[in-house]
Amino acid sequence: MTHKLLLLAGDGIGPEAMAEVKKLIAVMNENGASFVTEEGLVGGCAYDAHGAAISDADMAKATAADAVLFGAVGGPKWDGVPYDVRPEAGLLRLRKDLELFANLRPAICYPALASSSSLKQDVIEGLDILILRELTGGVYFGEPKQITDLGNGQKRAVDTQVYDTYEIERIAAMAFELARTRNNHVTSMEKRNVMKSGVLWNEVVTATHKAYSDVKLDHMLADAGGMQLVRWPKQFDVIVTDNLFGDMLSDVAAMLTGSLGMLPSASLGAPDAKTGKRKALYEPVHGSAPDIAGKGIANPIAMIASFAMCLRYSFDMVVEADRLEAAIAAVLADGLRTKDIMSDGMREVGTVEMGDAIIAKYREAA
Ligand code: IPM
Ligand code: MG
Repeated sequence: MTHKLLLLAGDGIGPEAMAEVKKLIAVMNENGASFVTEEGLVGGCAYDAHGAAISDADMAKATAADAVLFGAVGGPKWDGVPYDVRPEAGLLRLRKDLELFANLRPAICYPALASSSSLKQDVIEGLDILILRELTGGVYFGEPKQITDLGNGQKRAVDTQVYDTYEIERIAAMAFELARTRNNHVTSMEKRNVMKSGVLWNEVVTATHKAYSDVKLDHMLADAGGMQLVRWPKQFDVIVTDNLFGDMLSDVAAMLTGSLGMLPSASLGAPDAKTGKRKALYEPVHGSAPDIAGKGIANPIAMIASFAMCLRYSFDMVVEADRLEAAIAAVLADGLRTKDIMSDGMREVGTVEMGDAIIAKYREAA
């Protein structure tokens, strides 16, 4: 069976990171896998080519693909483009149109990196948590969303935080199911002390939990959750939260792993009623990092680890996913570091050398 992948490398360091995954796909195909890849444009490069953050033709390719691999979008070059066609709009359209409501952001601290975080080693050593972020609702997409001129020299900006019951139910159910494959513990985060959407979130998560009473459920206010995440992150297993809190908390969690360059993510839709397959997009959490783009120093690990998540969640290639994750850990254990995770006594390498080393380890284990 062939696996159809759409590669959307995007802007900044996206293409450099994606190049390492392309090499890996070629190696896997030489060894019996059957990935078929197509490429498309998203973000600033898509705007330059056809005035939109993603074209309808590329959206159609994304819809037809078994999975989308996404690099990064944005950069100062496009700071002035109209809001509707800004680079980020391409990513948001993919998430919304493919209905990728569940964003899995695992934060794992590789033993070799326990000393490169800004947090104390014992706080993060052995860390393995999963942030489950709701991705198609909340303030990112709520209407009205506008700036109006009040005519008295003042303007008013409105974003709308809105959640319906079904949106909270499906992400909560996903959290409990994922927790069952891990340490059976879910912490739900919202701001029910201030926000109506938080009150409903709390209520619906609690009600959904009734069908998963074997899983431990805690509720935490999202601000306190942010504090606990840096105080003692190992108290968590699965954190489930809304779109905006998830955006912020996952960047915090990234630093627990040593660098934003380490964090992969999977964005999944509901299983198709007929085929059982989920629409899916895999992307590193780091952005386009325009300051280091084109220098060959970007860390490709989050992109490669995102591909490992693709193997696991889209194609059930669990053995290959485990092997790839082990290859990343082994290369780090050997002392190879990109600039963002460099520390004393280690060997600094560029993007290509890091990718090659991971691929070599992967092959050795195959
Ligand atoms: C992320 C990013 C995006 C978001 C941006 C690029 C729109 O920060 O995936 O975390 O805010 O969701
Ligand atoms: Mg973010």
